[in-house]
Amino acid sequence: MKIGVIGGGQLGRMLALAGTPLGMSFAFLDPAPDACAQALGEHIRADYGDQDHLRQLADEVDLVTFEFESVPAETVAFLSQFVPVYPSAEALRVARDRWFEKSMFKDLGIPTPEFADIRSQADLDTAVAAIGLPAVLKTRTLGYDGKGQKVLRQPADVVGAFAELGSVPCLLEGFVPFTGEVSLVAVRGRDGETRFYPLVHNTHVGGILNLSVASSDHPLQALAEDYVGRVLEKLDYVGVLAFEFFEVDGGLKANEIAPRVHNSGHWTIEGAECSQFENHLRAVAGLPLGSTAKVGESAMLNFIGSVPPVEKVVAIADCHLHHYGKAFKAGRKVGHATLRCEDLATLQARIKDVEALIGA
Ligand SMILES: Nc1ncnc2c1ncn2[C@@H]1O[C@H](COP(=O)(O)OP(=O)(O)O)[C@@H](O)[C@H]1O
Ligand SMILES: [Mg+2]
Repeated sequence: MKIGVIGGGQLGRMLALAGTPLGMSFAFLDPAPDACAQALGEHIRADYGDQDHLRQLADEVDLVTFEFESVPAETVAFLSQFVPVYPSAEALRVARDRWFEKSMFKDLGIPTPEFADIRSQADLDTAVAAIGLPAVLKTRTLGYDGKGQKVLRQPADVVGAFAELGSVPCLLEGFVPFTGEVSLVAVRGRDGETRFYPLVHNTHVGGILNLSVASSDHPLQALAEDYVGRVLEKLDYVGVLAFEFFEVDGGLKANEIAPRVHNSGHWTIEGAECSQFENHLRAVAGLPLGSTAKVGESAMLNFIGSVPPVEKVVAIADCHLHHYGKAFKAGRKVGHATLRCEDLATLQARIKDVEALIGA
């Protein structure tokens, strides 16, 4: 079976690393000459709106999936004429736009921060008066790794904030005084079978994910599964979906969903029976899903900007290196390490070992 992937970054690369042993082959459509997934499959180098090359991709593959959600709706609609596309155009439409996303949470009774649609500085002034400060202003589309957002703490921050984010449609959200951030990675097959990985505790630095630790028997697991299950059903979702939550007042508030494999699920490559990458491929290909059970204690640390010397990373016990083969650049995710240990005390010690290497 040949899988077409829109996007050829590290997520596409790790999909191919998981799918190759299943007998799958891959074609990646990505305009970047140095797209790092090309080491693992065919690289169709073209813009996402290039219909000739989209048609070529559709003709070559059995189905198409995505490694990022900011794909133009027209691209999805065009491809869907010729080849099955998972997740659906509707799932992407909702997940790529913070207004549709938060409106869906509200409709499904999933708690989420207060929010307002912002089309002008006047809208922002009105919304700040209603929601109060602090608040977070985010562009409705195209934001990632904390880009396209601004925390408004005092009245002076509000002045000119709409223009600062580019005078594009935005969302204002109430600031959540969270005690922690967790995410749930879920997978749903074409037949509706659904499985959930354990909740993961995430730490961000400067808006970028830094550390993910997989939990055991988290007290909010059942609640998170209930919320995520509602979204999967509503979207008749096929594939892996990641759901980010704020932990607040002993409950959960929905932050955002990603209609794809997710950075907070990278630990599953070594830390779960079947990884998020393999399960995504199984789901879209109509294969039975694999076990989402955790194997031992697991954590993932991102390498941002650069990867420490390989010999030093692999010298750490219980440590698995994933080097994406991308050029090093400040603020860019260029690799990660997964730790898988027998017990939590060892895991905590190993996390410190990797952090020391990153800080060195
Ligand atoms: N409403 C909020 N209240 C408090 N912190 C927030 C809020 N929204 C975002 N953040 C912080 O910013 C990070 C990035 O925001 P997010 O909406 O997840 O955007 P991205 O698409 O960049 O991941 C979150 O993980 C969280 O740490
Ligand atoms: Mg996020």
